Amino acid sequence: MSLGSYVVTGGSSGIGRAAALLLAEKGGSVGILDVQDDAAEDTAQEARRIGAADARAYHCDVTDEAEVQATLAKVRTELGAPRGLFANAGIDRGGLLHELSLARWESVIQTNLTGVFLTCKHVLAAMIDAGNGGSIVCTSSPGGFVAFSAGGAAAYSASKGGISSLVRCMAVDYAQYGIRVNAVVPGPTETPLMWANVPEGERARVRETVSAETPLGRLADPSEPAQAVVWLLSDAASYVTGSHLICDGGVLAKAALSV
Ligand SMILES: NC(=O)c1ccc[n+]([C@@H]2O[C@H](COP(=O)([O-])OP(=O)(O)OC[C@H]3O[C@@H](n4cnc5c(N)ncnc54)[C@H](O)[C@@H]3O)[C@@H](O)[C@H]2O)c1
Repeated sequence: MSLGSYVVTGGSSGIGRAAALLLAEKGGSVGILDVQDDAAEDTAQEARRIGAADARAYHCDVTDEAEVQATLAKVRTELGAPRGLFANAGIDRGGLLHELSLARWESVIQTNLTGVFLTCKHVLAAMIDAGNGGSIVCTSSPGGFVAFSAGGAAAYSASKGGISSLVRCMAVDYAQYGIRVNAVVPGPTETPLMWANVPEGERARVRETVSAETPLGRLADPSEPAQAVVWLLSDAASYVTGSHLICDGGVLAKAALSV
């Protein structure tokens, strides 16, 4: 990997943790930002064990600008100027729009979309200041492109559509600084978020249905979208910006009508 540090938001769990560990295996310095402190520390320890030049956990709520700014300044001092950012922290809270409280809507938009805005804002400023370019990957979703057949995903889908638009705008605005900005589009992936809106007793049935309806016939392991992220962060993707790398088992390629 290139010199400099890699920042992963939502690095305690799921796709973020998997990406942090892949970056560590390649010898990167990784800052793991999350609100789950013990799990972030666990990811950092594992990252150091498997070869990270350095890896540290930082408590950071991506919705809090002062905390994002202060944390990124600390990462820069301790791990070096950011070379890459995986802006990935997210939540999924469902509900039909006519019943959705403003508080629920705002929690999803603030975490998923405003969180990406804030982390990108302060990492972009640091990248421009360091003058070495960089690469940013944000986590979108098939929900940013199509409505989920199961319904009730308006806030989540709106947040992800917003992230996809933000990615294209940032790619155009920051190309002049040698900063690339792309999105990864994970499909159904075995993480806590995947099951956030599914009662425990229904998970086996939902897993079976999702597997049957996904062209590749299964859910992804978090390491699979993480591999796409690490490629986009790397210099191997040096001419790729403003794009979406779809890693969804074929979900978006398939029309929902089965007859
Ligand atoms: N799992 C899937 O099927 C799937 C599919 C498409 C997109 N995604 C996206 O992938 C990203 C990662 O999700 P995941 O599936 O790995 O879920 P996950 O729940 O395993 O990880 C999400 C992480 O984000 C952290 N987080 C939540 N709110 C935060 C905040 N305010 N500040 C800092 N950290 C915060 C959580 O603590 C958690 O560690 C999300 O943006 C999600 O929308 C997931």
